[in-house]
Amino acid sequence: MMAHPVARLTGRVRAPGDKSISHRALLLGALALGETTVHGLLPGEDVLATAAALRALGAEVTHDRTADLWRIHGFGVGSAGEPSDVLELGNSGASARLLSGILASHPFTSFMTGDASLRRRPMQRVIEPLSRMGARFEARGGGRLPLAIMGTDEMVPVEYRLPAASAQVKSAILLAGLNTAGETTVIEPEATRDHTERLLRHFGAEVRVGTAEGGGRCITVAGWPELRPRDIIVPGDPSSAAFPVVAAALRPGSDVTVENVGINPLRAGLYLTLREMGADIVFENAREVGGEPVADLRVRGGELAGVDVPAERVPSMIDEYPVLAMAAACARGTTRLLGLAELRAKESDRLAGIAAGLAANGVRVEMGADYLVVQGAGTPPAGGGLVVTRLDHRIAMAFLVLGLAARAPVAIDDGSPIDTSFPGFVPLMNGLGARIGPASEAA
Ligand code: S3P
Repeated sequence: MMAHPVARLTGRVRAPGDKSISHRALLLGALALGETTVHGLLPGEDVLATAAALRALGAEVTHDRTADLWRIHGFGVGSAGEPSDVLELGNSGASARLLSGILASHPFTSFMTGDASLRRRPMQRVIEPLSRMGARFEARGGGRLPLAIMGTDEMVPVEYRLPAASAQVKSAILLAGLNTAGETTVIEPEATRDHTERLLRHFGAEVRVGTAEGGGRCITVAGWPELRPRDIIVPGDPSSAAFPVVAAALRPGSDVTVENVGINPLRAGLYLTLREMGADIVFENAREVGGEPVADLRVRGGELAGVDVPAERVPSMIDEYPVLAMAAACARGTTRLLGLAELRAKESDRLAGIAAGLAANGVRVEMGADYLVVQGAGTPPAGGGLVVTRLDHRIAMAFLVLGLAARAPVAIDDGSPIDTSFPGFVPLMNGLGARIGPASEAA
């Protein structure tokens, strides 16, 4: 697949449903007794993997295509059934980590695996706390999938301080805490996305949030709540909206509005950073959708300047560094991105992927163990390179965005991972004036 340079992007599009919230809406719907409905669910492959796993555990999950409404008939807290086969979770780290909390707190053995990308991702971070609660695990070397989970319905509540900020690990522990007597507490060093906490409350669970002794944010869930089915509206995904927003910000003369973008402050670090770089982004029509703050983002293209992005901002924009690095490559001056060690544990080693892809497209970049320094010339980079995406949807989309703003087209070796989080990405971008198509097509 290849992206060709274009002068500008214009138009209005709607952000696809939020991937994180979609996973959680399905999971909590399955843990409630009765019918939960979900509007705006992201039909990406990752979310479909969660839906399939929940069906294997006994939930009924159906999609009414005409109304675009998903219905979940849940099994209730503690009442999942033993899956009869290995749970196949594709590319989805969120499915693997979040489901492990539910599986660990049931008295049966289950197995999970995934694609080559997911099979290299660390699971020890959930194995550790869930083992302390009483579950047992057998994993491949380095705590990797395939994974066997020997669960129990006699979990013991813990107070667990996360060694590193992770919304997935926090959520796995909180979900396990639902089928645990007493109160389960997670302490996070820095606040991460709080969709699990918001939705748990919405479904009727008791969740308390406070400040931990010695610093950090402390989240406590009370065990054995009666979760009530709910009607949920999923807002648009700020991590997906990031691609059309950055593409428009980079091309002077662009005027793009992305509607329905979640702007939860724990997710919105990219937009803060782009504004610091000088991007013209206006939040219009700010409102609440499904208990989350949402706005329509109007972006006008112009010149961007390099900035320093501090490590503290990482949790609020963890998935946005690939596309931010493309903005940095086109900006004038140096951009320093700090505190990025976690990027090496994503769908691919994103630090290495960004650095290699930028270098292949004529951008000066320096990579350290946990940082990137990108030198922008303030003019379109050369482009013309081929980027290896390694089953990583965000690397794929980020470099296609670069191709729209470079002097020569940018090719990616594999566009298929895009469907994990953003089905319809190519037609949406092309509807704004992008030229993304098969690599063989003439410019
Ligand atoms: C997610 C949390 C983040 C993020 C991932 C989705 C979630 O991962 O990178 O894409 O839905 O909770 P970590 O918890 O590993 O930081």
